[in-house]
Amino acid sequence: MTAKLFTPLQAGALALRNRVVMAPLTRNRATPDGVVPGPLAPTYYGQRAGFGLIVSEGTQISHQGQGYAWTPGIYSAAQVERWRPVTEAVHANGGTIVAQIWHVGRVSHTSLQPGDGAPVGPSALTADTRTFDGERFVPTSIDQFMRPSVNVRTDAYGGSVENRTRFLEEVVEAVAGAIGGDRVGLRLSPFSPANGVVVDETAPEIFARGIERIAPYGLAFLHMIEGATGGSRELPAGASIEALRALFPGVYIANNGYDREMAIEAVDSGRADAVAFGKLAIANPDLVERLRRNATLNEADRATFYGGGAEGYTDYPTAEAVEA
Ligand SMILES: Cc1cc2nc3c(=O)[nH]c(=O)nc-3n(C[C@H](O)[C@H](O)[C@H](O)COP(=O)(O)O)c2cc1C
Repeated sequence: MTAKLFTPLQAGALALRNRVVMAPLTRNRATPDGVVPGPLAPTYYGQRAGFGLIVSEGTQISHQGQGYAWTPGIYSAAQVERWRPVTEAVHANGGTIVAQIWHVGRVSHTSLQPGDGAPVGPSALTADTRTFDGERFVPTSIDQFMRPSVNVRTDAYGGSVENRTRFLEEVVEAVAGAIGGDRVGLRLSPFSPANGVVVDETAPEIFARGIERIAPYGLAFLHMIEGATGGSRELPAGASIEALRALFPGVYIANNGYDREMAIEAVDSGRADAVAFGKLAIANPDLVERLRRNATLNEADRATFYGGGAEGYTDYPTAEAVEA
């Protein structure tokens, strides 16, 4: 019997041919001026068209929204044109791709900002993290307004749970208003201490309220990082992914530390509608086929995650090439 993981899924306006999703993956290979996809991007994404859905690398919505060197933007007509060969390569191979649009907020550096200005964020607090200085939709990780450790505002965007979740709803409302909610997805990391945020006891309530607020917009999907990004799947006391998922009426995409067996179980049991893979998507352009056949997987080489050229980007072999 075919595992449900390999069966089609309708996510809002998006028709996915299977439920294996490529998670958003920053690769810092945009052209040296840092604003358009690099020359190998169409090959890289085209190789991965077998995924039911590709979520692009984080793509800034303005110069100010950039937090890392050599990440692409999508805020000018010229940049949109440079994304076209990427989407065409994916579509030519029968795939579906959406853009992860982001504004990194405070996770930036003056050297990356217009006029060398200070990065903007909910409050004037420095993120305890490092940045790398060297067609449609939106999962964002703009949760900085929701965290007491990052947001100490006293205006309508800080303080109460209502105020902390206001920015999230306004972003979703604006994007859904522009392109239709059924083309918009949202990525949340409710219990991840990434980028210097402190996950405190307010997280379950704030994220529950945030999801309740965006539920009426008919989004294509909710995508959550279960646990600490790229780390433990364990949740703090009182936290529950299932409880948050239950508040969202649409498609749920699970992510973080999934392997084949876990992904098949999650979708068969109904705990998730689809599963996103990060590191395995970097290392296995044909991941869906490999999972289907239970073939051996390539391992991702961390040394080539960020920056560089074809090595560790477009040269991971397919199982077919390895066997030949
Ligand atoms: C090289 C690399 C780049 C990443 N870039 C992004 C990004 O641009 N946006 C984002 O939301 N998450 C990003 N992530 C997090 C992944 O989407 C994913 O949540 C994480 O790798 C956990 O999934 P995995 O265990 O399947 O690898 C990145 C992770 C890695 C390893």
